[in-house]
Amino acid sequence: MPLQVIVGAQWGDEGKGRIVDWFAAGARYAARYNGGDNAGHTVTVGGRIFKLHLIPSGVIHPHVIGVLGNGMVINPQTLLEEMEMLAENGIEVSPRRLRISFAAHLITPAHKALDRAIEAARGRAEIGTTGRGIGPAYTDKAARTGLRAADMLAPDFADRLGVHLAAANRLLGLYGAPPLDPAAVCETFCAYAERLKPYIADTAFELETALRAGEVVLAEGAQGTLLDLDHGTYPFVTSSSTVAPGALTGLGLGLTAAAGARVLGVVKAFQTRVGAGPFPTEVSGELAERLRGSGKNPWDEFGTTTGRPRRVGWLDGVLLRYAARLNGLTELAVTKLDILTGIQPLRLCVAYQTADGQRLDDLPFGPADLGKYQPVYEELPGWEEPLGELRRWRDLPAAARGYLERISALCNAPIRLVSVGPEREQVVEK
Ligand code: IMP
Repeated sequence: MPLQVIVGAQWGDEGKGRIVDWFAAGARYAARYNGGDNAGHTVTVGGRIFKLHLIPSGVIHPHVIGVLGNGMVINPQTLLEEMEMLAENGIEVSPRRLRISFAAHLITPAHKALDRAIEAARGRAEIGTTGRGIGPAYTDKAARTGLRAADMLAPDFADRLGVHLAAANRLLGLYGAPPLDPAAVCETFCAYAERLKPYIADTAFELETALRAGEVVLAEGAQGTLLDLDHGTYPFVTSSSTVAPGALTGLGLGLTAAAGARVLGVVKAFQTRVGAGPFPTEVSGELAERLRGSGKNPWDEFGTTTGRPRRVGWLDGVLLRYAARLNGLTELAVTKLDILTGIQPLRLCVAYQTADGQRLDDLPFGPADLGKYQPVYEELPGWEEPLGELRRWRDLPAAARGYLERISALCNAPIRLVSVGPEREQVVEK
């Protein structure tokens, strides 16, 4: 399986980083295909915690080449900071190990300012974005007014930036937000461009060549299926194609590259969401606090990028079945199973009920109308044993195996991996 796509099956924050890290052991490339530094992928290796927002988590392995694909929107400042952080931790990030697609778009301070201004103007209807300028950068891309990585190679990059900033300042004015100083932004961005130039490449060509040679390319999705611009809980979504097919356009690969691909959906053992939007299985009170954690541990349910407490709830099997269909999932990795220890009984949403009492096993119009439905739960026995030390499927408590098998049956995809703690090796392979 030369192409392996790892995709979030929920609203993001499923723990994709550590799953990518696991599969990257056998890969040559790890490539991000969508989003930008709204993502936060955490990998814990030997007690060291790496929080990556742009660089694929796979690069923690020294033999892996990281690619930032054409489907991404890249804030050069965040990228350079992340490169420095990795270098300080002894991880090489030279152009030999990291490539940026010439066609990836750039996020500027103007995009961030617009993100904030547009959210403020929405008032109570705000989306709850990460404030990283993602929406405005993709808006520029679709409007054909964006700046791409290749622009950093152009002798007139400063002029192109100037045109972008002038347009953005006009827009900011309409929102009553203060304008940016074009000279200051140009100075810092031209310095970033000098540093990033050696990394810009035709990554689509390189990945296709690698796949033809039988090398493994790991496509690392960011956010999750339910945040997909087309298929998610619109308008409470991000602005990119988060689903597995987005890996093809977002990396510049043809359809045939996907033949026989592994499409692994990462599913948290319960459900979480940051930002606004419908969430039928959301819980509050003591159970929510239990699932969320105190915030003292890096794996507690607080945003990696924003620090916001995440909304939490029971696993939603209807949405998972939807995610399995849209991504074409071939297998599942279930994360954070250890967090469910001691919760009795467990609940799993297996269908929805409409206001007039009709049962729905699937979504008639995708997840946009979720707010209208009540979850129909199945209760399953929980378990009391801590799971952190377990490594074999057969050693898991029978109730834990029963819970996992039920999840697998609900979306008709086999379970491949289960994580039982934050460390790299705290994984049960099935
Ligand atoms: P944006 O991507 O910053 O525009 O935010 C749009 C929506 O996606 C908001 O609800 C964010 O909270 C959510 N979001 C964006 N990136 C992530 C992520 O990596 N994990 C979880 N939620 C995210």
